[in-house]
Amino acid sequence: MKGIILAGGSGTRLHPLTHAVSKQLLPVYDKPMIYYPLSVLMLANIREVLIISTPKDLPNFKHLLGDGSDIGMKLSYAEQAEPKGLAEAFVIGEDFIENDDVCLILGDNIFYGAGLSGILADAKQKVESSDEAVIFGYHVENPRRYGVAEINDKEDVLSIEEKPEYPKGNHAVVGLYFYPNSVIDIAKKVEPSHRGELEITSVNAAYLEQKKLKLQALNRGFAWLDTGTHEALTEATEFIKALEKRTGLKISCLEEIALSKKWISKAELKSQIDGKKGDYYGYLQRLMD
Ligand code: TTP
Repeated sequence: MKGIILAGGSGTRLHPLTHAVSKQLLPVYDKPMIYYPLSVLMLANIREVLIISTPKDLPNFKHLLGDGSDIGMKLSYAEQAEPKGLAEAFVIGEDFIENDDVCLILGDNIFYGAGLSGILADAKQKVESSDEAVIFGYHVENPRRYGVAEINDKEDVLSIEEKPEYPKGNHAVVGLYFYPNSVIDIAKKVEPSHRGELEITSVNAAYLEQKKLKLQALNRGFAWLDTGTHEALTEATEFIKALEKRTGLKISCLEEIALSKKWISKAELKSQIDGKKGDYYGYLQRLMD
């Protein structure tokens, strides 16, 4: 399975922060925002990842993450000329995906919770073995801002609507989606919505129609944070800071994950961080000691 991080968009709600800098490169406490979704793909054991962003911002992502070899990954990059919607990721990423299945994660979504790796492994296995799509729902206070899934007791999806005025439930569809290879053809057929975007909800609706859509609810033990407004961005920073200070452990530290999965050796990490200053690298140094 391959991974795509969609890290474009216009970030208008964060202006003026995002006039000159991509939203997904803004800090969430002690690391750039994109580290968080990238760490989720790593936890899912997905090592080949395509990062999609705007023509203006893409060079900065390359500068930050390079070819990914420092963390035992293979990263590649593609431009989205205009923010035409999430479903366009699969059209842009067609040559990258080839005949594989694919996991899409939004570059401004943060996931944290015990058991995340297991949930990711289950979703991956389900897609690889059954040709079904797997999405995730999270109970939110105000579902109107999101794609909303109506589910029954067995977590079957009954309906799915984008930013409904009258939501049929409180489960927002989060920015993490596992699809079989057929998603490329489905995305190519999606027509722009009334707001002019190729909606991911249309992709999910197509799988729902074929009875091939599974929704896994993330329970209240999980944190799903999005970072699209000043308020949300500050809350995300406070959340990460509180947990990291309390535990002395870092959340979404890419090198730590790569090391624990044996994708890089201690010697490789040591040579990477030699001479680097600051708390993040001090943490990695302590890990190795
Ligand atoms: P949004 O938060 O819906 O949009 P945005 O990031 O452009 O922000 P704003 O609403 O403030 O203008 O996007 C969700 C994520 O998807 C975010 O990481 C940006 C990304 N995205 C793209 O990469 N391409 C797109 O065409 C769209 C619509 C979003």
